[in-house]
Amino acid sequence: MSLIPKAAYSESMTPLGYSRRSIILVNSPELCREVLYDKDEIFPKNDLFVGALEPLIGDSIFVSSGETWRRQRRMVDTAFSHIRVTQAFDQMQAAVSATARRWQEDAATDSEFSLDVAMSHLTADVICRTTFTEELGNQSVQEVYDAFTTFEKSVASVNLGQLIFGKPWSPVKQPQKVLEACQTIRTIIGGFIDPRLANPENQPEDMAAAILRAKDTDTGESFTREELIDQLGVFFLAGHETSASVLIWVFYILSVRSDIADNIRQEVQRVCGDSAITYEHTKHMTYTRNVFKETLRLYPPITFIPRVANRRTTLGGKTIKKGAMVMVSPWTSQRNSGQWDNANVFDPDRFAQPTKDGNGVFMSFGLGPRVCVGAAYATTEAVLIIATLIRQFNIHCHNADTVRPVARLTTRPAEQLRCTVTQRTV
Ligand code: HEM
Repeated sequence: MSLIPKAAYSESMTPLGYSRRSIILVNSPELCREVLYDKDEIFPKNDLFVGALEPLIGDSIFVSSGETWRRQRRMVDTAFSHIRVTQAFDQMQAAVSATARRWQEDAATDSEFSLDVAMSHLTADVICRTTFTEELGNQSVQEVYDAFTTFEKSVASVNLGQLIFGKPWSPVKQPQKVLEACQTIRTIIGGFIDPRLANPENQPEDMAAAILRAKDTDTGESFTREELIDQLGVFFLAGHETSASVLIWVFYILSVRSDIADNIRQEVQRVCGDSAITYEHTKHMTYTRNVFKETLRLYPPITFIPRVANRRTTLGGKTIKKGAMVMVSPWTSQRNSGQWDNANVFDPDRFAQPTKDGNGVFMSFGLGPRVCVGAAYATTEAVLIIATLIRQFNIHCHNADTVRPVARLTTRPAEQLRCTVTQRTV
């Protein structure tokens, strides 16, 4: 983050660094929209990003473009309909309850744990249960999680070298261990779907089932086996790191702002009384949702949304060369004091009226046609997790004073947050 020039927090566009190809941060809402809506198809997903993910998720929805992407998006949308998120809720709840039980033990023994690892496990568990009706404790699911961790750790550093020295559209080389991790993940996902392909009538009603049944509206065709592995790999990749990243920041903030934690507890009490939290309840927890949204504003998991100029063009009156990396930046845009009142202050109430003056454009889920397909799912999941855990626990982060954000695959604390929890009487 320290490489970001100060000007990026006020300028509409900022060149970054001295790499072989130019890198441009796009900060103003108007230009972010222009790049992400991309009416003339000039700014596809960035080639480095696509190349780095290819061994894992092929040419799937997260990285594809043009007609391939349009077909995939229509088919994948069905897995995230309102009704599907409602169906996924019980599985989300089972995962949160498992974490609450673990925290009860930690509270009883006063054990310190890494908040980063806890959130990563929890959101991976949610994805596994809602996608495959499998919990993270199962051995093969644990293997997928471990292989993803290997993949995520190396993918950011591989990109950095190529980012500085590489020519546009040159092949992205991955170390052998990353390729092996990708193969492990693909083999296990294949193992989950094969029995379903053999017997499609007899499978649980989860997100994998929705993707298996999805049909191209033009041709009536379903996804092939390889395409299914690609798309389901995306759910894991796009859905667990992002949610884990923002939840780490939420609990860090709640550990230092007991007033906000208390407001959440009051809302939970008002909406749910003493009963368990239901899907309907989460719809009425507007304050908790605004805490989540305000955390996403200040700590967007996707720090920069990467694109590439596929031809020479202009943006904001400036010439952009073919091959330039165009990075739409929620991080700088959502901290811009020209766009947001008290931009650096954590104030969930700024979202109490959605169109309030002094609120800039919220883009943590992206903008335009490629906006996050899992936004409603992620919001329901986060509200449930925050409400459940804050209702039952006080959280203490022991290194909260020295926390520093870094942009890895997602926006993370540079050092893991070490926490203990104490149990509250509900
Ligand atoms: C807080 C959590 C999340 C955040 C902040 C987030 C953020 C984003 C962003 C910024 C994009 C746009 C990327 C771009 O334009 O290049 C995106 C796309 C996407 N996200 Fe999410 N995401 C989250 C959770 C999820 C979840 C839970 C899933 C699925 C289980 C998911 C699946 C996807 C997919 C499939 C795309 C690609 C959509 C397309 O290109 O058509 N995301 N996400």
